[in-house]
Amino acid sequence: MMNGAFQRSPTRPPLPRSDCWKLLVEANRRLPGLLGHGHRVQCYAELLALEVGLTRAQRTSLRQAALLHDIGKIFLPSEILHSRQPLTRRGWALIRLHPKIGGTFLERLGFQEEVTSAIHHHHEQWNGSGYPHQRSGTEIPLTSRILAVVDTFDAITTHRPYRPARGYGEARQELARVAGSQLDPNLVESFLGLAGSLDDGT
Ligand SMILES: [Fe+2]
Repeated sequence: MMNGAFQRSPTRPPLPRSDCWKLLVEANRRLPGLLGHGHRVQCYAELLALEVGLTRAQRTSLRQAALLHDIGKIFLPSEILHSRQPLTRRGWALIRLHPKIGGTFLERLGFQEEVTSAIHHHHEQWNGSGYPHQRSGTEIPLTSRILAVVDTFDAITTHRPYRPARGYGEARQELARVAGSQLDPNLVESFLGLAGSLDDGT
């Protein structure tokens, strides 16, 4: 069960889109790259959401969640955020807090439960080995499962301090490899159909 901070608030309207962008631009000062990653994840998430038939309201929540899904990272120590070395056990323990921190932060700012819960669960895995709550399968909100697929794709295809970007072809192979373990296999199948038309030539 979700804790009290994440109880449903069905009457709360979505915050204006401009608020999301202002918040993300501010957050990007602390963690450069957050804005670009959020924007790409938002584009991919919207494509996948249209493909699998999410409602207009679900897509509105998903777009906000996609932009801001990693905002919890700005509250982590800068030596963790900017480390060029492989993270220590403590470093990973801190990184694993970011979905919960981000969801709670946005809840307190007045974001809808649909947005905060998508963020809270975006690192859960289909087989229950993710975090923070080890939810599995369809216990994980659909919006979080969509975020997980497209976040993985963007993480593989963009440069990171500890490794170069890989091509779309390799990213597609990796998504196919982890479908059914880390990621929702049906969503991966839908996204792979789309990713074929997003070819970068590799
Ligand atoms: Fe994340």
